[in-house]
Amino acid sequence: MDATAATTSSEARTARRRRRPRPALSALAGLLLIAGCAGDAPSALNPAGSGASRVAGLWWLLFWISVAVFVEVMALLTWALVFRRGNVRIRHGQPLRFVTVAGAGLPFVILVAVYGVGLRDLAALGDAPGPEALTVEVTGHKWWWEVRYPGASGATANEIHIPVGERVKVRLRTDDVLHSFWVPQLMPKTDLIAGETRETWLRAERAGSYRGQCAEYCGTQHAHMAFMVIAQPRAGFDAWLARLNAPARQPTTEAEHRGQQAFVQGTCAACHTVRGTDAQGRVGPDLSNVGSRWSIGAGAVPNDAGHLGGWIANSQTVKPGNAMPPQPVYAAQLPDLIAYLRSLE
Ligand code: CUA
Repeated sequence: MDATAATTSSEARTARRRRRPRPALSALAGLLLIAGCAGDAPSALNPAGSGASRVAGLWWLLFWISVAVFVEVMALLTWALVFRRGNVRIRHGQPLRFVTVAGAGLPFVILVAVYGVGLRDLAALGDAPGPEALTVEVTGHKWWWEVRYPGASGATANEIHIPVGERVKVRLRTDDVLHSFWVPQLMPKTDLIAGETRETWLRAERAGSYRGQCAEYCGTQHAHMAFMVIAQPRAGFDAWLARLNAPARQPTTEAEHRGQQAFVQGTCAACHTVRGTDAQGRVGPDLSNVGSRWSIGAGAVPNDAGHLGGWIANSQTVKPGNAMPPQPVYAAQLPDLIAYLRSLE
């Protein structure tokens, strides 16, 4: 073999080695991908409230029991494979005893114990840990959440403000179909059933924003029926609630004034409320604080000027099937409407 041929074949080998998929690398990439789901993701295994902590505790209990059972079964299997010998003579009664104890008795004890723990957690989730600080009324609509606080004249949408460390009762109703209220980091799911008022509670142990999601398929935009629970210290919460009971911010600039006029005199006012104006529609969300919300369309798009403009002009392109028809807005009016709505904080 000459030198050139040797080089070529060694190069080909290197190239083949390079092309070959590397299981270790793929596994690492997979792990990184899964790790990407942690962090800020609303994982039930990253609880921030006493309700979710119970669920996470149960999850880990089941997980470690499964690990123990898996390891035991694999050990027995390995043992059987390594030590098998042709015809083993088995003493009468021996296998039966083993199968009865390890195959039936032990699982029975484990399952009954887990069932008991599950019942205990279920009771704890239904029970109140201390008196509730306040009640929030949440109504599910296709596809957004209306949020009201008894005593406050205003409403907000797709965000629930609560004080940190206090128990908040959540009263749940649906305006149309079945929905399910779920804040993975704070509380397991509660279904919203037509004609019924369901109750759950939230308690956040630390300040922060916790994403919630409708967890019951309710139509085309089920995925875009998200909300945010914002837990803040008492003083901040009280200030926020006081604003919910006051008229919306008045326009200050020329553009905001024109935007308010267009809003109140146009079709917007037929469906939306802005407190302190003639716009008192109740079909769609109250927009008195729309400028400060975390998203537009219950998680459909970010709340910025561009997306707001697109939503006003034709929300059907943003969130097809939602209840808001395309609006006959003059091009010249759109920037004013955007300026006005963005000023409502
Ligand atoms: Cu509401 Cu899914």
